[in-house]
Amino acid sequence: MSLLKRIAREVLGEDDVWGRIDVVGDVALVHRKFGYPLEKLELLGRELVKRMPGIRAVWAIEPGTKPPYRLRDLVHLAGERRTETVYREHGCEFLVDVRKVFVVPRLSGEHLRIAELVEPWETVFNMFAGAGLFSIIIAKRKGAKVYSVDINPDAYWYMIENIKRNKVEDKVVPILGDAAWVSYWLKGSADRVLMPLPELAPEYLDYALLSLRYPGRLHLYLHVLVRRGERPKTATLRAGLPLVESKCSSFEVEGVRLVRTVGPRVAQTVIDLKLSKCSPSPRLGKPHQQREFL
Ligand SMILES: C[S@@+](CC[C@H](N)C(=O)[O-])C[C@H]1O[C@@H](n2cnc3c(N)ncnc32)[C@H](O)[C@@H]1O
Repeated sequence: MSLLKRIAREVLGEDDVWGRIDVVGDVALVHRKFGYPLEKLELLGRELVKRMPGIRAVWAIEPGTKPPYRLRDLVHLAGERRTETVYREHGCEFLVDVRKVFVVPRLSGEHLRIAELVEPWETVFNMFAGAGLFSIIIAKRKGAKVYSVDINPDAYWYMIENIKRNKVEDKVVPILGDAAWVSYWLKGSADRVLMPLPELAPEYLDYALLSLRYPGRLHLYLHVLVRRGERPKTATLRAGLPLVESKCSSFEVEGVRLVRTVGPRVAQTVIDLKLSKCSPSPRLGKPHQQREFL
């Protein structure tokens, strides 16, 4: 058991009813389950700061994320009242503010997995880039060109800072805006598209297909409801395949993976696709609705 978990068990004496703890740089984020008393989490926060030298600030994350930037409400528990920190992953360094941009250390394995799939000659379109983690790790490890888009001005600011910190200015192109608009600009030029925002990926599939040069690769992230007795992989194909089949007449599923569980019976998953023939019908200007689950 990790030291973090041991301290949590010692202080709270309960079995995970308080939620989960993520550590981003020197900031610990305690996921508070609905209605769990804050005073108890403050005790935990003080203990974490006292016993873990790497942790300088502890915040509670309130349940749920808010569209469109996927930010969470934070409540201070202990230590410094600071939310900006330096976070390291796979030999790269990221300055992030956990209040202003979406950062989840549990995606670390997925960042590396995707980077390993990329070839150096590829042009990659990261539609929902946040502070640039996928984009920068891909550029740093593979030297590929990445168009890295986010609609949140704070995420864009941190992305620019992180591109400089990791010296990939010649590889990563930061873009502030809606990925839908950028897909018109990239039309037919991307070898690989990343859609790491499950709430919006189905809605934006046409834009991703528009940006691709065929054959091309697509990583479609989804939130799926996993039925009783069902495997996440089956649930993903049940939800994702009809979407792809409705737009592509020739494609191959190269992989299906569980990325993380996000709630009781709800999983974030990804389908890796090689697409050979698709007929996107993007309709810019139509108000889109964010879809939570398929
Ligand atoms: C899940 S986060 C990205 C996390 C990031 N890929 C990582 O691994 O750290 C999704 C991001 O999509 C951005 N976003 C939401 N709607 C968007 C849109 N229409 N176009 C571009 N970015 C968008 C949000 O601001 C948010 O930063």
